[in-house]
Amino acid sequence: MEFTEKEKTMLEELKSHEKLCIEKYKRHSECANDAQLKSLFQGLSEEESKHLSSLDQIGMGTVPPMSNEEKPLPTFTAKYKAMLSPEKTADMYLCNDLLSGEKQVSHMYDTATFEFRDQNVRNFLNHIQKEEQKHGKMIYDYMTANGMY
Ligand SMILES: [Fe+2]
Ligand SMILES: [Fe+2]
Repeated sequence: MEFTEKEKTMLEELKSHEKLCIEKYKRHSECANDAQLKSLFQGLSEEESKHLSSLDQIGMGTVPPMSNEEKPLPTFTAKYKAMLSPEKTADMYLCNDLLSGEKQVSHMYDTATFEFRDQNVRNFLNHIQKEEQKHGKMIYDYMTANGMY
């Protein structure tokens, strides 16, 4: 598969954002107070690594197969009470930061989807975008369960 300069630039941009996501989820996982958040962020960091390697494969001309399995979304128990505590405030900051990152990256995939000639690549980028939205939903669910949203 031959890519135009614009397509190549787009792929590079997406890759650098995925790298940032991997790093952020790792670091935020280390900083989180609630164990549920630690494991959520750890898991999402691994998912972002998969996105990065998929983009690498696309860059080399192969569109990876898309898994159709619908993994159920995790459920969260309330760790925090309605009142604000320093721990809750700190975890809330981490969630808000990552949620805004997911929104941004989802927009990027949306834009990128319009720029590729190959329909399989478009489908795959759209597939990743849906996964980013799912990441956002997990963070949203955690925040809702903990009176943060
Ligand atoms: Fe991602
Ligand atoms: Fe994500």
